[in-house]
Amino acid sequence: MAAKLADPEISLGDAVAVVKLDPCSLGRVLKVANSISKRSHCSVSSVDNAVSLLGLTKIKSVVSISHTVVPSQNETEIPFALERFWKHSLAVAVISESIAKQMIRYKTLDTEAVYAAGLLHDTGKIALCSVKPELVTKSVIKCSEKPFCETESEQYSHSMVGGMVAAAWKLPKDIKTAIEYHHAPSVQDDLGYLSSIVHVADVAAHIVGFATIEDECVNPLDADAFSCLGIQMESLRVIASSALSRIKTIESQVEQFR
Ligand SMILES: [Fe+2]
Ligand SMILES: [Fe+2]
Repeated sequence: MAAKLADPEISLGDAVAVVKLDPCSLGRVLKVANSISKRSHCSVSSVDNAVSLLGLTKIKSVVSISHTVVPSQNETEIPFALERFWKHSLAVAVISESIAKQMIRYKTLDTEAVYAAGLLHDTGKIALCSVKPELVTKSVIKCSEKPFCETESEQYSHSMVGGMVAAAWKLPKDIKTAIEYHHAPSVQDDLGYLSSIVHVADVAAHIVGFATIEDECVNPLDADAFSCLGIQMESLRVIASSALSRIKTIESQVEQFR
């Protein structure tokens, strides 16, 4: 995808499309956009806003740096396939966005923030690999017997580390909260819609075959989080299966970028 952005002829629209497909690129772009916009006291959760704030040249350099900084699979101790991680993140983003569109309060939701939170929700897994790879490896081994989040210690869970990364990147507070609580939205005093959407989308993505790790147990569904969305289980099934075809389309687009 970085190669596509290196194309001097790339349009602004294509650059936005590329950034929207990759958690690593999106995280970096929002980080830089938010560090700039902090001076004007407003946070950026949309790629379109980030692009208009930074401009095409800056977006291209931010993304190429992010791909240089993030090592390839062979150079790190990441004990799962990055390809599967990417597909899982993308599935959660697509399903999150579809859930938001089904909700009665759709018009009050920032769907760009919903998509971004879905794409970035498991960022902590990658971050944890660079500081405590042995803990991630242990969870990967155990996650065929119990859900990944239940194999982790509270001190070093990927959701907590993801929340710290989001804070360091100065991402909008609701995106940071959604990342931090995506496995237990109802633990919060104030049950947030964004964390509930991402949580339900994460469970749905696992059920329709987009788990990060092969044979990974499905994470338990937080019933309060699901009921606060006001959608039916049947609607969720339809959303999840239609996400399958959308992701296949995206995959073929990505093949063209390679
Ligand atoms: Fe997770
Ligand atoms: Fe996940």
